[in-house]
Amino acid sequence: MTGHHEHEMQDTDQHRHAAHGVGHHGHGAVAHLPTGDIRAAYTAAYEAAEPDPGRQVVVAHLEPREVEWEFRPGRRTRAWGFNGQVPGPVIEAQVGDVLEVRLTNRLSEPTVVHWHGLRIPAAMDGTEMVQWPVAPGQAFAYRFKVPDAGTFWYHPHLNETVQLERGLYGALIVRGPNEPHLDAERVLVLDDVQLDRAGQIKPPGWWLESHDGREGTTRLVNGRQEPDLTMAAGQVERWRIVNAASARYVRLSIGGRPFRILGTDGGLITAPFTTSEVLLAPADRVDLAVGPFSEGETLRVESLPFNRGSFRGHRKAEPFATLRVGPAKPSHAHVPEILREIEPLASGAATPTREVRLGFKLSRKHGVDFTINRELHHRADPCRVGELQVWDIVNRSPVHHPFHLHGFFFQVLAVNGEPPAFRSWEDTVNVPALGTVRIAWVPDDRPGEWMYHCHILEHHAAGMMAHVDVVR
Ligand code: C2O
Ligand code: CU
Repeated sequence: MTGHHEHEMQDTDQHRHAAHGVGHHGHGAVAHLPTGDIRAAYTAAYEAAEPDPGRQVVVAHLEPREVEWEFRPGRRTRAWGFNGQVPGPVIEAQVGDVLEVRLTNRLSEPTVVHWHGLRIPAAMDGTEMVQWPVAPGQAFAYRFKVPDAGTFWYHPHLNETVQLERGLYGALIVRGPNEPHLDAERVLVLDDVQLDRAGQIKPPGWWLESHDGREGTTRLVNGRQEPDLTMAAGQVERWRIVNAASARYVRLSIGGRPFRILGTDGGLITAPFTTSEVLLAPADRVDLAVGPFSEGETLRVESLPFNRGSFRGHRKAEPFATLRVGPAKPSHAHVPEILREIEPLASGAATPTREVRLGFKLSRKHGVDFTINRELHHRADPCRVGELQVWDIVNRSPVHHPFHLHGFFFQVLAVNGEPPAFRSWEDTVNVPALGTVRIAWVPDDRPGEWMYHCHILEHHAAGMMAHVDVVR
């Protein structure tokens, strides 16, 4: 079977991997090696993955490979895509299904695939800490049960500033038994690329880009530059939106019109929340109820001006797509007033159990190093299964950072001391410049090696990440 190759690879890939870290910023190679008996953990997780009664095994094949892609019509760009498309295929499953993903690496460099937001065993998390990289031409099988409904995504967890930037990412939708009923659904994966004059993706740049993160000037929805979307008048649609950009924050507006937030990273929120804008930091997801609109309307789907502290300010709105409203169709949409229960884990006044400090230091070698608790690739104290974690994530830098915790959902208790507008489950939260976010989470019984990091890919690559063991 595929999936059992990881052991033979260890020598060559250890070298290859260390070498690629040096090739980019030189920070990468520090702590990027699996520890412990990863093979036994992998085999145990593989064999334990059984669907719930009445559910099934969903098999998906993913082949990352080079592709000629038209980000803009008529302009061919050498990109990388899962199964030759950008984004990769939408993977769909139901809660309680087992997802078996057979990955065959057709790239010229090693990769691993991470299941962003899924609460699965550590051995299946798809990071360089829990498996050996999958070498070119090699195969690997991920197999896990999907426990939660929501809008998730998948992407490589190696050489991310290149592999994601070139187009390796895709949405993963898990449906639950009690979903709101809307007239239609669409998945919108947002991204941007920086193309040079010849229409090719620019390689990672030097210190300014590693400080700010790459923001391309070609803004994409589902791999196409500023497309037209059409929707029937009178209908209400569910939009599942993923921000797959390396560094861009999207302060999303749909023609300035109100919409209802139904869900965030970890699935439905407790009740629909009406607003006319929502901030998606890199890696964030949101589910919206959009509409109804009237025939003939044209609405700009755009990012409103937003200052995240980067050198490149966003003083003007920037378009992602144009929504054109066509002839009316009957609506059968029903959004209930209560979407689900979410029990609070703790109140905002809870005493923090630890502090996670996001910082930076100037480095002669790299321009800027980004740190957690003053270290590149911080090694955190372990967390015990079942013990409430209340973390203060303190941003000591003048730029925003999207904080992402692998494998577990958390609740946001406070942002700069203020409670959030609604209760939700999250795996990514924006930590404002010089601000503090207090989160709460409880490690359930999935021991192993996990990580948390900034999801601005250049910051992650420049050291703003940490490793944490969940122990029994
Ligand atoms: Cu979206 Cu470490 O991941
Ligand atoms: Cu960051």
